[in-house]
Amino acid sequence: MPRPRRYLCCEPRYFDVRYAINPWMTEAARPGAEVDTDLAIAQWRTLVQAYRDHGHTVETVEPVPGLPDMVFAANAALTLDGRVFGSRFLAPERRPESAAYTSWFKAAGFDVQEPEPESVCEGEGDLVPVRGLVLAGTGFRTTPEAHREVQEFLGVPTVGLRLVDPYFYHLDTALFALDDENVAYYPGAFSPGSREVLRRLFPDAIVATRDDAMAFGLNSVSDGRHVFVAPDATGLIRQLERRGYRPVPVDLSELRRAGGGIKCCTQEVRS
Ligand code: ARG
Repeated sequence: MPRPRRYLCCEPRYFDVRYAINPWMTEAARPGAEVDTDLAIAQWRTLVQAYRDHGHTVETVEPVPGLPDMVFAANAALTLDGRVFGSRFLAPERRPESAAYTSWFKAAGFDVQEPEPESVCEGEGDLVPVRGLVLAGTGFRTTPEAHREVQEFLGVPTVGLRLVDPYFYHLDTALFALDDENVAYYPGAFSPGSREVLRRLFPDAIVATRDDAMAFGLNSVSDGRHVFVAPDATGLIRQLERRGYRPVPVDLSELRRAGGGIKCCTQEVRS
């Protein structure tokens, strides 16, 4: 059953690709391959409208000039049971985003637990709550030390999963929660041991192809029934329909140039 959600998003008003910290950005950062910020804003508005049309609440954080990746709200924190574990980015260019989001959370009445200074933690980009666990990606960004801090802070077991393909540098580019119990994922993004962990934990998972993953299909948001999904992930969309989910295609192709999609743009505030 769908559950109304509370989402936090950030308009891509200052969106651009000015540095390359993942393979998607390398191409877009080339001279002559300018980003169309107006198109990014228009696409982002479609996403916000789609959430609202399906009964979800969308709040926004004010974008900060000079922070071109701030649109990727998922990376700012993990919020579970009203408890907020903040972020500390690997890339120095993104580090100031944490304070901007922390201010929003504090103004909204939440305390924010900061990661230890030597840890890297990129929020829901690498931390996916499902089935009473937090699936926790590592390999490119978030460190295993941060997984332990998250477990200690939330009192929820974290399950470390190793990412091995630089195109899938965040867990949320390779896996998403379909509902409270099940996930969809692309096995090729994970180390052999992590693949086996996922097979054991989620024998009924939707297993996606590389094509669907490269189309950012695994960077989806589900409310338990409606799945906001990249339209190019056609194989995944068919699988979702067969399983009784309702795909809601939303095109964020301009944001993909920075290596981001629907989930990247969405922080779920779970109270
Ligand atoms: N350019 C951003 C980065 O590489 C994209 C972040 C996408 N966010 C996500 N949750 N996967 O950090």
